[in-house]
Amino acid sequence: MRKLTNILVTGGAGFIGVNFIRFLLGESAASNEFKGRIVNLDALTYAGNLISLKEIEEKFGGKRYFFEKGNICDHTLVEAIFRKYDIDTVVHFAAESHVDRSILSPETFIQTNILGTFSLLEAARSIWKDTEGVLFHHVSTDEVYGSLGEKGHFSENTPYAPRSPYSASKAATDHLVMAYHHTYGLPVTLSNSSNNYGPYQFPEKLIPLMILNMLEGKPLPIYGDGRNIRDWLYVEDYNNAIWTIMQNGLAGEKYNVGGDNEWENIKLLNKLIDIVSAKINSDADALRSTITYVKDRPGHDRRYAIDCYKIKHELSWKQSVNFEQGLTCTVDWYLSNRDWTENILNGEYKRWIEKNYGGR
Ligand code: NAD
Ligand code: DAU
Repeated sequence: MRKLTNILVTGGAGFIGVNFIRFLLGESAASNEFKGRIVNLDALTYAGNLISLKEIEEKFGGKRYFFEKGNICDHTLVEAIFRKYDIDTVVHFAAESHVDRSILSPETFIQTNILGTFSLLEAARSIWKDTEGVLFHHVSTDEVYGSLGEKGHFSENTPYAPRSPYSASKAATDHLVMAYHHTYGLPVTLSNSSNNYGPYQFPEKLIPLMILNMLEGKPLPIYGDGRNIRDWLYVEDYNNAIWTIMQNGLAGEKYNVGGDNEWENIKLLNKLIDIVSAKINSDADALRSTITYVKDRPGHDRRYAIDCYKIKHELSWKQSVNFEQGLTCTVDWYLSNRDWTENILNGEYKRWIEKNYGGR
């Protein structure tokens, strides 16, 4: 039986990590099962925000929740954290996660995603040695499989064919994690997920960017012909899948996670416009007129679609939030948390956008 007692969450101040910590220490069914401690190691880059965990810090800080500011590439620090908190489980979210940024400046993606993962794996290997009941769960992406044509789905056996610096760096980490399992016997599991959406997502990603641009009367930038397809999954369903894998997944196995929910970007945007316009009593056609087709993302993957038969049948995972509900909750969350977005959009992100996109 896995211990899952002292969990090191890397990148716990980012979108999925925040939701994961809230999932384990908040109101979910998983919070009834989990009685241990969480250590959140995060460098607080532009994408990390501790405000998202304010209530968790107030309720559990110093008791069951601990924050350590630091870089996963800092091997000495990582080892010290393993020892200080007697870490028996790692859930590794920390990464540079935005494809557009990886195209503009790939270096930090190589540093954080590849060398950072290496640093964590080395700490786990040297400190855990042959300890029983430990686990390194690596959080990865469907983008490692490349791009699909009109038909077909990514399975766990699909050969890797990453096409952006981001996805190539994630593919490298998947291989490293598996190599540590095969070579050193490190107990690892992996999850490769499709596009997540939900509360606390940094508004450089499609859904929150569009919601906020609608609220601010800014153009809605669609790349290329708008017909690229993504498979959308509500973040709580992904976190539930990760927790399921951590509890019952087999060491050395990888699990695809998706929403069976493919949308062309332009169709998704139109759906979002309908939801937002109804919520804020504005004219949907006026919002539609602000859709602006812009230059395509270089190497833009055409279609992602996930076959998640394995996690459904072997681990009995299933998603619980349908797209209509999930999008509505997400819009509601962004409408009622304007101070959160104000806070994170100031500072480093604003300067980066102004430099690279002239203030889009
Ligand atoms: P995010 O960009 O919102 O958050 C990343 C977090 O990692 C931030 O809190 C940041 O401060 C932290 N971080 C970055 N570099 C660090 C470093 N060197 N040391 C310590 N912390 C560092 O990302 P996200 O969307 O929450 O994604 C989390 C993970 O899930 C990533 O590994 C990503 O590849 C993967 N993933 C994301 C999606 C998605 O749709 N968002 C889908 C599949 C997989
Ligand atoms: O598939 C999983 C991946 O999903 C994760 O690994 C990544 O971390 C995550 O960022 C996400 O990658 P995408 O590139 O698919 O997400 P993004 O939100 O950047 O873009 C979604 C789609 O929308 C994509 O086809 C590009 C398009 N797009 C995006 C933006 C930001 C636009 O048309 N306009 C935009 O302004």
